[in-house]
Amino acid sequence: TTHTVGYFVGSLSSTSINRTLSKALIRLAPPELEFREIPTGDLPLYSPDFDADYPPVATALKDAIADSDAVLFVTPEYNRSIPGALKNAIDWASRPWGENSFDHIPAAVIGASIGQIGTAVAQQSLRGVLSFCNARQMTSPEAYITFSEEKFGADGEVHDEGLEGFLRDYMTEFRDHIERVLTVLPRD
Ligand code: FNR
Repeated sequence: TTHTVGYFVGSLSSTSINRTLSKALIRLAPPELEFREIPTGDLPLYSPDFDADYPPVATALKDAIADSDAVLFVTPEYNRSIPGALKNAIDWASRPWGENSFDHIPAAVIGASIGQIGTAVAQQSLRGVLSFCNARQMTSPEAYITFSEEKFGADGEVHDEGLEGFLRDYMTEFRDHIERVLTVLPRD
């Protein structure tokens, strides 16, 4: 059976290295996983004033998560934390109260930066948020990717054998994690 993975790219940049990483992950993923991007760039800033009447763009966000068997976050680090656009999307999806879209959903976190830390601090912050949202996170392996144009082609080709193997293993582990979670927490 196949599983639908809704993925978030935490960057709105037209030249995002995290979008390139997402392409690499999709290339290297096992055949049981199918991918659909869940866009965040058109959401207004969340306010509880919307709770009584979500705008269509926010309803579409919640529907996209509901239609996914799992979610994958591919995100940059902004000032040692989560980019605002991504946090805004998570806030929208977590509400209205009692209708948290992330409850029990299988999830994984990964990210790329130019620097050596490889988004580790942002990922730690994101994990805290997803814990509160009660997502079932894959906790191992972790993946802190230092991006370079020598290692990644524009369409997500990976030119470094060791990195390619690492990313393939990461996605295989994610598939196994999804299947373990769905065994006890099926998504209808
Ligand atoms: C950054 N960058 C960055 N990098 C990092 O490793 N730790 C950080 O805290 C930050 N902070 C930060 C803040 C802001 C506002 C910007 C615009 C950038 C650099 C960042 O890693 C780099 O711009 C990446 O290219 C961002 O990923 P995308 O957008 O290319 O996917």
